[in-house]
Amino acid sequence: MRILLGITGGIAAYKAADLARLLTHQGHQVRSILTEAGARFITPLTLTSLTGGPCYGANPDQGEWRANPSIEHIELARWADLVAVVPATANIIGKAANGLASDLLSTVLLATRAQVLWAPAMNTGMWEHPAVQANLARLRTFGHAVVDPGEGVLACGEEGSGKLADLLTIAEAIQFHGTPKLSSLIGRRVLITAGPTREDLDPVRTLTNRSTGAMGIELARAFRDAGAKVQLVLGGDLPAPWGLETIRVRSAQQMLEACKAHWPQADGLVAAAAVADQRPESPSTQKVKKVEGTEMLSLVRTPDILAQLSSQRRPGQWVIGFAAESEDHLVHAMAKLQKKSLDAVLVNDIQDGQAFGAQANTLIPVTDQGPQPALGPLPKDQLAQAVVQWWAQRLGAGPV
Ligand code: CTP
Repeated sequence: MRILLGITGGIAAYKAADLARLLTHQGHQVRSILTEAGARFITPLTLTSLTGGPCYGANPDQGEWRANPSIEHIELARWADLVAVVPATANIIGKAANGLASDLLSTVLLATRAQVLWAPAMNTGMWEHPAVQANLARLRTFGHAVVDPGEGVLACGEEGSGKLADLLTIAEAIQFHGTPKLSSLIGRRVLITAGPTREDLDPVRTLTNRSTGAMGIELARAFRDAGAKVQLVLGGDLPAPWGLETIRVRSAQQMLEACKAHWPQADGLVAAAAVADQRPESPSTQKVKKVEGTEMLSLVRTPDILAQLSSQRRPGQWVIGFAAESEDHLVHAMAKLQKKSLDAVLVNDIQDGQAFGAQANTLIPVTDQGPQPALGPLPKDQLAQAVVQWWAQRLGAGPV
């Protein structure tokens, strides 16, 4: 995505440098505009060094700092897929809400047709002032997005709201607002299971597996960014992603119950969770003491969540499962597809260290038409986007 980052004059400007680095690291092209007041807090060199892209501003006296020729604002306004103002002061919010264009950033904001996103940061009194709130409400009516500030101790020493939102939240909001929505997924409810489940033996011991839940979380993000309403039923310890409903669970039984509560309203299911297939037959409420010699652990099957939901589907609901295989991948995947009546199985090859905990991964979609072209190898976020594009295309082509 081509992101134009506008940085205005608040102490949180130093955090915008870190955001610029994060967005660049995520693969976005980042250019920046530093207002004169913003340049009192950080320098253009900071931004050009972190982004590898130019930094624009009104002060022609500094090295990498570009002059502001009369049509630069139009070029930049056209270049951007998304304009993010981080941090946004009451001043720039007031200007943009009222159509004032007195410097490069405010001129670009008036000229651009790209999505605009605001991350305000200011003193609590200023933030709560009706003028600022009215201006933000007006910006929202233009279709602009606002990432509200959080609460905390502010640079002025006051405690309250006005603190720049968490950078990861801003980055997720940028990703969401800057991603084109896919018509076959807009407004659709997608239920996603992710992460490992844990089956407790006693209050301190548990049976689990090596899944982190990263792939399922990236899929949830990718469906969210494509316009779907996502409900994520998540095991494990990874943080819940921004902008979707997450239901945290521990055991397979809890995951099943959470899924059953949401499945009737859903349009589709993606079962990415690594559900423990067995649980201890009789878990103990007290810590079990060790004994000498060999011990036997009796295990019983957990419910197959994917199979149960698939068997309870109503017409129009679609179901995608995962398979992690180390041999005869496609044979096993076809068998799973038929046995659980799925629309697609995404097959992971776990033989060469891919999948669990790995950074890059390959998935082979298998449908009733057989194996489809492989997606990847790609980092998990991009792989999830590829899965969503592939599936949206199939949905768009007619009933699955
Ligand atoms: N799954 C589930 N509930 C279970 C077990 C698995 O929902 N109790 C889902 C997983 O989320 C995944 C798919 O079913 O989408 C995996 O199917 P499974 O038959 O468990 O595959 P493997 O464990 O990979 O295969 P197998 O045990 O046959 O080797």
